[in-house]
Amino acid sequence: MSSTREQLIELLAKQGGSFVSGQWISETLEISRTAVWKQMKQLEKDGYQFEAVPNKGYRIVEVPHKLSANTIQWGLHTKWLGKEIVHHDRISSTQTTAIEYAQEGCDHGTVIVANRQSNGRGRLSRQWYSDNDQGIWLSVVLRPDISPMKAPQLTLVTATVLAEVIEQISQTTPAIKWPNDLLLNNRKLAGILTEMQAEQDKIHYLVIGIGINVNQSYQEMDLSVREIATSLQIETGKTFHQTTFIQLLLECLERRYQQYLDEGFHLIKASWEQYAYKMNKEVTYQTGKAKQKGFIRGIAEDGALLMETESGRIDSLYSAEIDWFSSDPGATVRKTLTSKQQEN
Ligand code: BTN
Repeated sequence: MSSTREQLIELLAKQGGSFVSGQWISETLEISRTAVWKQMKQLEKDGYQFEAVPNKGYRIVEVPHKLSANTIQWGLHTKWLGKEIVHHDRISSTQTTAIEYAQEGCDHGTVIVANRQSNGRGRLSRQWYSDNDQGIWLSVVLRPDISPMKAPQLTLVTATVLAEVIEQISQTTPAIKWPNDLLLNNRKLAGILTEMQAEQDKIHYLVIGIGINVNQSYQEMDLSVREIATSLQIETGKTFHQTTFIQLLLECLERRYQQYLDEGFHLIKASWEQYAYKMNKEVTYQTGKAKQKGFIRGIAEDGALLMETESGRIDSLYSAEIDWFSSDPGATVRKTLTSKQQEN
């Protein structure tokens, strides 16, 4: 049960920028007009600003940037994504909590977001450093009516969305390193962790976890990842409002998700390939015992990496050890840190 103050914000947020009368608020929340006024004064202390006009009522004109379910929902233009937002100041992992919510039957489009995570999880059981409030740490619960075989495509949809939104917000162009790492200047900026529960032909839920390093300074990055990871602040010298960022992210994800369901994978594939790290470049990779060289040519419908071998054949790679940084001068440092975390 939410507090009167949360109910009041929700009520005002739902009206967009329109006025609502004090009488109507007091009747809806079943509190006196004086209590409404007192609550508003408290909200002003938190950074909310209201306009009060006689005979018209109140409306919100300024929402604080502090991360909360209400500040994200205020001005969020989505139909279903983020209609239910659960916000925690500090949590073990939004991913673990989202899975619990999904198992308890939460709605498609529920979002779990935290300022910081004490036990953030990355792919391949790695740790994801996020015990600071400078990044974006959130997980989205989806219940798509698609074959479980196609679930990897939704991770690629998400990677594309991250690249598009990061570019829009920061005016820098990230690269997507297959399958789903976002890099800026060869360092990891963001990652995606997708976990699913499904039967043979039905997905019960898919939880997509998104971690983006946003406002951390170089010193604030964990020592063990400083040389292999980066943040938007480090790369651009600017800081970004997390609420605005999350709103754009959710709006773009809902749009791209719907487009993917309506029109199929080809538009996502095209956008993914535009951002692909080392696209049409030669890399060394290993699938079995032997190392070979090949050119990256894009992704297949099932999410496999398309690699042109030295003999000109196009191979689909589902898992491979790729030497991504071998022609890069920073490679030695990075390669020694690779096994630790935040790198594939
Ligand atoms: C990776 O690149 O290894 C994936 C990193 C995913 C991190 C995000 S942060 C929000 C969500 N909660 C977690 O514990 N992990 C994901």
